[in-house]
Amino acid sequence: MKKLIVFNWKMNPPSPREAEALFQEVKIYASAARAHAEVVICPPSIYIQSLFSRISRLSPLLCGAQNVFWENKGAYTGEVSPQMLKRVGVRYALVGHSERRAVLHETDAMIARKVRAGLHAGLRVVLCVGEPLGVRRRGAQEGERFVAQQLARALEKGSASKAQTRKNLLVAYEPVWAIGAGRTATPEDAARMSRHIAQYLKKTQGLSGVRVLYGGSVSGGNAENFLHYKEIDGVLVGGASMHAKEVQQIIHSL
Ligand code: PGA
Repeated sequence: MKKLIVFNWKMNPPSPREAEALFQEVKIYASAARAHAEVVICPPSIYIQSLFSRISRLSPLLCGAQNVFWENKGAYTGEVSPQMLKRVGVRYALVGHSERRAVLHETDAMIARKVRAGLHAGLRVVLCVGEPLGVRRRGAQEGERFVAQQLARALEKGSASKAQTRKNLLVAYEPVWAIGAGRTATPEDAARMSRHIAQYLKKTQGLSGVRVLYGGSVSGGNAENFLHYKEIDGVLVGGASMHAKEVQQIIHSL
């Protein structure tokens, strides 16, 4: 199966013009690597239509959203629904990113509703999990317990069918202490956690074959070390997404 590379642009770049320029560059790199990689860009939602509306079905780039709400319409100021995303061509949605958990105070209950709504709408949901530094310091097993709990809570309200969930749910393991920090989990630890996540989902939810990505300071210089592991199905890239050279290196490390 192709590896998946997801670029999370976060709240960058500052202008539509810069977004378009970066997008065009990434498209060229993704095109050259399409035999080995599926490449997703998650831009700020305000750029989604201008970047992706002219793109054909054969494009090497897929569109992702950085967030999704749980209702499909109504009085929810500032929110964007799963159906709206779907209708403008969005295929993937990040849910439960640690910045949203920490800065926007998203709770496990909110995340569970988002996962369910996203899957129900037919989006591929990338559920982000990962332990904070305090937990990590208590050892790998504590980290695994923490992540298992996040998974259990996020999938608690599962109402999408098993087949739909198996097909459309992905997990991104992003240790909180590695995000934007310039230091990563070791590839061995990331592979071990990916294995743990896959086994946990199989054992407790009967979900086999869920793809697991690694995220947290992935760069052109280290992506290969993660992608090389069969347990790691891809990477979720934040900061490095803004630098065309890094993007090229990451895509071509496959
Ligand atoms: P980073 O971010 O690559 O800048 O660490 C990853 C993420 O936030 O998904």
